[in-house]
Amino acid sequence: MDANVTPGRGQWGSKIGFILAAAGSAVGLGNLWKFPFLAGQNGGGAFVLVYFVILLVVGFTLMMAEITIGRHTQLNAIGAYRKIKPSWGWVGSLGVLAGFLILSFYSVIGGWIIAYIVKAATGTFNTSDVKMLGDMFTQFIQSAGTPIFYHGLFMLMTLGIVIGGIQQGIEKYSKILMPALFVMIVLVMIRSLTLDGAMAGVKFFLNPDFSKITGTVILSALGQVFFSLSLGMGCMITYGSYLSKDTNIPECSLYIPLIDTAVALLAGLAILPAVFAFNFPADAGPGLLFITLPAVFSKMPMGGLMGVVFFTLALFAAVTSSISLLEVCVSYVVDEWKWTRKKATVIIATLIFLMGIPCSLSQGPWSEIKLIKGKCILDSVDFIASNVLLPLGGILLCIFIAWVWGLRRVQKISKTDEGKTIITWALEYTDALKEITNDGQVNFALAPIWVFLIKWLAPVAITIVFIQGIFS
Ligand code: TRP
Repeated sequence: MDANVTPGRGQWGSKIGFILAAAGSAVGLGNLWKFPFLAGQNGGGAFVLVYFVILLVVGFTLMMAEITIGRHTQLNAIGAYRKIKPSWGWVGSLGVLAGFLILSFYSVIGGWIIAYIVKAATGTFNTSDVKMLGDMFTQFIQSAGTPIFYHGLFMLMTLGIVIGGIQQGIEKYSKILMPALFVMIVLVMIRSLTLDGAMAGVKFFLNPDFSKITGTVILSALGQVFFSLSLGMGCMITYGSYLSKDTNIPECSLYIPLIDTAVALLAGLAILPAVFAFNFPADAGPGLLFITLPAVFSKMPMGGLMGVVFFTLALFAAVTSSISLLEVCVSYVVDEWKWTRKKATVIIATLIFLMGIPCSLSQGPWSEIKLIKGKCILDSVDFIASNVLLPLGGILLCIFIAWVWGLRRVQKISKTDEGKTIITWALEYTDALKEITNDGQVNFALAPIWVFLIKWLAPVAITIVFIQGIFS
C-alpha cells in the first residue's frame, strides 16, 4: 500500500478499477432516463449539440479539477477545500448537501426501476399498447405505499455496497456491472434501430434545429452535464481522494466523460427511434424509459427476458451512481467526525430514505404541493440540486482552483518580486496552475488550454448560463 495513504481510509486497487468506478458514478439514470427525455423535450439534436459544447468547455475541465483536488488532499469534499484554504470549507458543505438532496429523489426513481424488473419478470407489461403502459406507469407512481417500499429497497442496496468500503464495495461491484451494462445497451439499441420508422427518431436526435435553442435549453444542458458527469458537488473529489499519487489525472479525466457520453448517446439511440416508430410523443418527459421501452421489448423475440435484463442493468447503472452520492456524505463523516464506516453508512442512508418519502409522495397523494416554478416536490428538489447547487459548486470550484490555490502556488514558486514584469508573472502563474494539474508529475501537453478554461472560460460561461436560466 502507498505510504501516503491515511490508514483505514481505503484506496482503489487499480487504475481501471478507479476509472470504472468513476464512470459508474457518471453513468446512471442521468444517461438512461434523463438524457433521452431532456433531448426529447428540448428540440432533440439542438439539445445534444449544446450538451456537447458544454461538455467540451466545462465537463472535461471540471472533471480534471475535482480529481486533482481530491488526489492532492486525500480527503472528503469538505476536508479537501478546508485543507487548501480553511475558509472555503462551506463550498464543500454545499456539495454534501447537494449529494444528500440528489440521492433522496434519485433513489425514488431507482425504486421505480426495481419495480419494473418485477413487472417485466411477471409479464405484467407484455403489451405494445403504449396508452395502457402509460396508464400503468402513472397508476404505479401515484400510489402511496409501493413506490416507497421500492425506494427503501434501493437505498438498502446502496447501503450494502458502500458499507463494504472502496475496494471490497464500490470498486468490486463497478468492475462487474459496468461492462455488462454496456453490452446490453448496445443490444437494445440495435433492436430499436431496426424497427420500422426508426430513422425519424435518429434524425430528430442528431439533426439540430437551431431555432429550438433558448436560455432554458442551455441551462438544462448545463445542468445535465453536471448531473451526468457527477460534477459540482465533490463527488469526483471524493473518488479522487482514494487515488494514489502516481495516477495520470488527465488520462482518467478523459476516459470518464467519454464513457459517460457514449452511454448517453447509446441510450438516446436506444429510446428515441423506438418512440418515433410507435408514434409516441418525444416530449413525453420522465415517462419515456418506463412507458416506451416496455413497448419496444414486447415487440422483440424473447422481449420479456430482454425487459428483465435491461431494467436489471439500468438498476446496476443507478446503483453504481447512488453509491457515489452516498460515499460523498459517508466519506465526510468518517474523515471528520471519525465515525466508523458502518455507523456513518447506516445513519446517513436512513436519513436519505426519509428525505425521499416526500419526493415519492409528490407523484401522487402530494402532487398538489408546488415548490418552485410550479414544480412538484421531486422536480423542485431536482431543480435546486441539479440546476442551482451543481452549477454554483462548479463556479466556486473554478474560482477556488484558479484564483485561490493557483495564487498560493505561484507565491510559493516565485522567489522575489523584484524586477518582475507582468509577463513573467503571468508565465509563472500559468506554470503554477499547470503544476496543479498533475501535482507536477505527468507532462500534460494541453495544460495551457486547461489553465485558460478553468481560469476564464468555464467560470464565465457557467455564470452567464446560470444567471440567465435562473431568472428566465
Ligand atoms: N451521474 C449520475 C447519473 O448520471 C448521478 C450522480 C452520481 C450524480 N453522483 C453524482 C449527479 C454527483 C450529480 C453529482 O445518473
